Amino acid sequence: MSSTTASGSLAGRVALVTGAASGIGRAAALAYAAAGASVMVADVDVAGGDETVALIGEDGGQAAFLRTDVSQERDVAALVAETLARFGRLDCAFNNAGIEGRKTAYLDFPLDEFDRIFAINTRGVWICMQHEIPAMLRSGGGAIVNNASIAGLRGAADLPAYSASKHAVVGMTRSVAKNQARNNIRVNAVCPGIIDTPMMDRIVAEVFTREAATVMQPIGRMGAPAEVAAAVVWLSSDAASLVTGIAMPVDGGATG
Ligand code: NAI
Repeated sequence: MSSTTASGSLAGRVALVTGAASGIGRAAALAYAAAGASVMVADVDVAGGDETVALIGEDGGQAAFLRTDVSQERDVAALVAETLARFGRLDCAFNNAGIEGRKTAYLDFPLDEFDRIFAINTRGVWICMQHEIPAMLRSGGGAIVNNASIAGLRGAADLPAYSASKHAVVGMTRSVAKNQARNNIRVNAVCPGIIDTPMMDRIVAEVFTREAATVMQPIGRMGAPAEVAAAVVWLSSDAASLVTGIAMPVDGGATG
């Protein structure tokens, strides 16, 4: 373990990240490890998950991977059980796994696609919280961060089901935060803007151009996954001890 790791804001803590094989989830897993946490990496993408674990190892951090589909309750139960078996506790969780879904004209939007988006983006976050909270209570509390989106704060015209699924994540975050406040479990959401990830590459290819995406953020550029990860680590740390139930835009001013 490097000296940075030993003295980080999450030294000795255990963090779990879903969707950690790519993009924002991978950046958050690396940032948690750099802050001193041991990290449980979860994703349906086995090769990408293994790569995230290897990257954390190269930096001198501790991590393990379990293939997990967040829409399957038995996978999530196994993930939390494996985290406790390997690392002994659960302090921080970043419920990040999500899909953008197919771009389809509003009136033709297929119900099965609506259900698939909600099964992962919304129900997946709910299942994760239900299994993470009892594990956190065993060690006296914890911090959960759910990944919503600026599409969870404003309507995204071309992604109606995605936008609805992310509004629901914000709603669950606010509700569970109030429910768990006396249990020393803080629950917050991040609402990233336009972040340069494989998902954004797919959205840009289907919905708008890269230039249009950049103009949507007053800062004049896309965000980097590490810039969202920094907010996630801060919300997970004791520095945010009075912060719960918020939906924090990380969007270069887009919703300001
Ligand atoms: P990404 O596509 O690069 O990564 C998403 C990861 O989630 C992938 O590794 C994928 O395999 C995994 N995943 C998908 N379905 C899963 C399932 N059922 N169970 C477990 N893992 C699953 O996407 P990105 O951009 O890193 O997105 C991460 C989160 O951030 C998503 O929830 C997305 O909606 C949200 N977000 C992204 C923004 C962006 O600009 N890239 C903006 C706002 C929110």
